[in-house]
This record gives sequence, C-alpha cells and structure tokens, in this order.
Amino acid sequence: MEIQYFGHSSIAIQTNNFNLIVDPFISANPKASNIDIDKLEVDYILLTHAHYDHVLDVERIASRTKAQIISNHEVVSYFEKKDLKGHGMNQGGSWDFEFGRVTVVNAIHSSSFADGTYGGNPVGFILEAEGKSIYLAGDTDLMMDMKLIPMFHKLDLAILPIGGNFTMDVKKAIVASDFIECNKIMGIHYDTSPIIEIDHEEAKRQFSEKDKELILMSIGERMTI
Ligand code: NI
Ligand code: MN
Repeated sequence: MEIQYFGHSSIAIQTNNFNLIVDPFISANPKASNIDIDKLEVDYILLTHAHYDHVLDVERIASRTKAQIISNHEVVSYFEKKDLKGHGMNQGGSWDFEFGRVTVVNAIHSSSFADGTYGGNPVGFILEAEGKSIYLAGDTDLMMDMKLIPMFHKLDLAILPIGGNFTMDVKKAIVASDFIECNKIMGIHYDTSPIIEIDHEEAKRQFSEKDKELILMSIGERMTI
C-alpha cells in the first residue's frame, strides 16, 4: 500500500492497482497549492463526515473521474442526489471492495454539510488490503470505543488527528495509540490554520518517549506501508 499526503486530512492510497482518496480538501488549502486535483487518478473516495474541510473537492474529483464515494448513508445520499455514485455504509459494517475490505467504526465528532444538510454520524475506517490494516480515524476525540479495534484488527498504521481544537491533540493521540495497540501513527488535521498548529519536534518527542513513532509527512510526500 502506498500513501501520499495532500495536507489536512487528505490522503491518497494506492492499493491493488486502485487509487483511493480520503477526505479531499485540497483546492482551498494554500499549503497544498502544488497538488493539481484535476490531474489525480481516483477510483474511490472515502469520506469520514460531511464537514467542509473533508468534502470540499468531492464533486470536482468525482464528476471528472466517476469515482465511487464510500461513506455513511447520509453523506452518500447527499452526493447521489448530485448524480455521483456511492456505496453507503454505517458503523459496524464491512464490505469487500475490489481494492480491499473496509470496516466502518465510530468517531466522536459532528457531521453536517456547509449548506446545513444533516451528514449522519461521523465515522472512521479500517482498511485491509495487500495483507496490511490501517485505521483512518477521521475527526474524533479519544474514546473508549477505540479499545474495540484491536479485538478485531491488528493494525500496521493508524492515521489520527493530532491538531486539537476540533479533534484530539497529541497528548490524547498517544493514549489512542495505546487503545488501538498500534505504535506507528501518522498525524493529520494539524497546521492547516493557526488554530491547529503544532510543534513538530515536540510532538515527535512525546511519541518517542512512549516508544511510539509519529510520522508527519510533508505535502506531496509518499510512503509505503
Ligand atoms: Ni470535522
Ligand atoms: Mn475537520
């Protein structure tokens, strides 16, 4: 599995020859201005919730690429009304897609579209593909429900929000890492605006103190899992 970071919570995942994008918010992120969303190859779009900073580029990408949207029922229905294709799921459900298996898990947050439309419950995803399992937490606080994840999944990587204010911060993400029994964490949802800026070196130090790794990718950077 190859992961490429597009800033904020936007991540491209390439697996089994399919291209996935998670929570595309790129065109309005000045820090991601070197990413041309009109050139991205996308087969599936995974959306954790309806907030603007997670769905902004969905219509632009999906109308060009005909990518299928995977999210909760309400988010998928919203985009189906705009003639885009989707596969609605909800917490507890798993589905085998051609790229791999997706399981929907809980997230503690809110979810509404910019126009006020109800966006269902926010979710996280477990993606299993090419013999690896990754947890995409979405926007969430630390929660006890995270302890359920290692009962069913042995994670190779967890992608957690760490910027605070709207989500958990570094301190809580370290506890989340214990709950999900995964010591390899990629941070997201930080530095996009001043309110969620973090000290990179300090955050990495706090993780390594607990024998954990915090990966902070630069925008456009790729890594293989
Ligand atoms: Ni949000
Ligand atoms: Mn957000």
